[in-house]
Amino acid sequence: LHIVHIAVEMAPIAKVGGLGDVVTSLSRAVQELNHNVDIIFPKYDCIKYNLVKDLQFNRSYHWGDTEIKVWHGKVEGVSVYFLDPQNGLFQRGCVYGCADDAGRFGFFCHAALEFLLQGGFHPDILHCHDWSSAPVSWLFKDHYTHYGLIKTRVVFTIHNLEFGASAIGKAMTFSDKATTVSRTYAKEVAGNSVISPHLYKFHGIVNGIDPDIWDPYNDNFIPVPYTSENVAEGKRAAKEEIQNRLGLKSSDLPLVGIITRLTHQKGIHLIKHAIWRTLERNGQVVLLGSAPDPRIQNDFVNLANQLHSTHGDRARLVLTYDEPLSHLIYAGADFILVPSIFEPCGLTQLIAMRYGAVPVVRKTGGLYDTVFDVDHDKERAQAQVLEPNGFSFDGADAPGVDYALNRAISAWYDGREWFNSLCKTVMEQDWSWNRPALEYIELYHSARK
Ligand code: ADP
Ligand code: GLC
Repeated sequence: LHIVHIAVEMAPIAKVGGLGDVVTSLSRAVQELNHNVDIIFPKYDCIKYNLVKDLQFNRSYHWGDTEIKVWHGKVEGVSVYFLDPQNGLFQRGCVYGCADDAGRFGFFCHAALEFLLQGGFHPDILHCHDWSSAPVSWLFKDHYTHYGLIKTRVVFTIHNLEFGASAIGKAMTFSDKATTVSRTYAKEVAGNSVISPHLYKFHGIVNGIDPDIWDPYNDNFIPVPYTSENVAEGKRAAKEEIQNRLGLKSSDLPLVGIITRLTHQKGIHLIKHAIWRTLERNGQVVLLGSAPDPRIQNDFVNLANQLHSTHGDRARLVLTYDEPLSHLIYAGADFILVPSIFEPCGLTQLIAMRYGAVPVVRKTGGLYDTVFDVDHDKERAQAQVLEPNGFSFDGADAPGVDYALNRAISAWYDGREWFNSLCKTVMEQDWSWNRPALEYIELYHSARK
């Protein structure tokens, strides 16, 4: 199959959240199964160009009265066509955040289809993502199905229904197949009016992570490489490095890590509560997060200052986006807390497990599908041929998060040997794209029938 993704975020060159990780890692996984994959991407000025290999001018074409220069390069081994419209739409120093984002990305989608048509491409599948490349679905059906792209089918993936519901609804109508990023989120949103008319073509496929990109044995950002064989040693070194670097007390305490966008979705009140609870239980907390909303950012700056003076040796909030530090926290933390109010899939709990950090999560969406409570979910885990791998809770209030966190911290203090074997178990579970990539390929084939 020839699959073309049309997307506006992509790890590691222009990543905003998990969508960026998925575009790159799903492409790599499908390509490894011998399919042909290209990504069409805006040529933002803010791309990390040092991570693009073999970038070369490819061609130029016109869409309306705009000249579009096309560049080709490779990102993590995947072929990427960068569209550079000469009207400056992607020279704004950011991926999102402009008043005319919908217009900019609408233009990009149309330009991408025109690029395929004028370049004589005949992909089997166009795969678009969320509101930002949703227009591909209807522009394609309106203008392109009768031309050279007659055998092309459109697959649309919802990563988050919270943003751009009307564009998502329209893409649901015009795409041949639609997916979202976990089975449970698919069920949770099935009753939504933009989804419910289309259930016959809507599937939940849980995301994977790329085990080469997230690999504690081969990671420049952590001090000692490790596998499940020397997990305790590797994690101890990473924990010491975090403590030194962030000025925390250097002692063997249970370390709770939180790596997140700070938005309503991620359960802000539960995060705050969990910080205090961990401190009460004589743990350490490191939060790495940034808030798009300045009021929330401010609120956390105040909390960071307060904690710095009251619990400076045991709590640190790092309120920015920092990819290298995220790797160190996944490696050094004993637990990664993800108390989301809703979570279409969530990648942080999967990355955590790859680094032997035990997830503590709220039971929602993809968190429910990937984390199995050690006390309650043995049977549900076994049905998936897995061992239980974390701690989870229901409800969206303080007693819920306490219930999971208290058990997690007690397990750390009371049963170190058992806890170390749990770290080893979670590390050995396969949360890569091995299985989900096959599900996508099956879906691509079924779209063509
Ligand atoms: P979402 O896409 O909703 O933000 P996901 O869990 O799917 O949530 O993906 C989040 C991705 O962004 C993960 O790769 C995580 O490591 C990364 N991430 C989130 N916040 C930060 C941050 N402050 N610094 C570095 N990486 C971050
Ligand atoms: C969205 C969701 C997150 C998901 C990611 C990748 O950002 O919030 O749950 O993991 O997309 O699909």
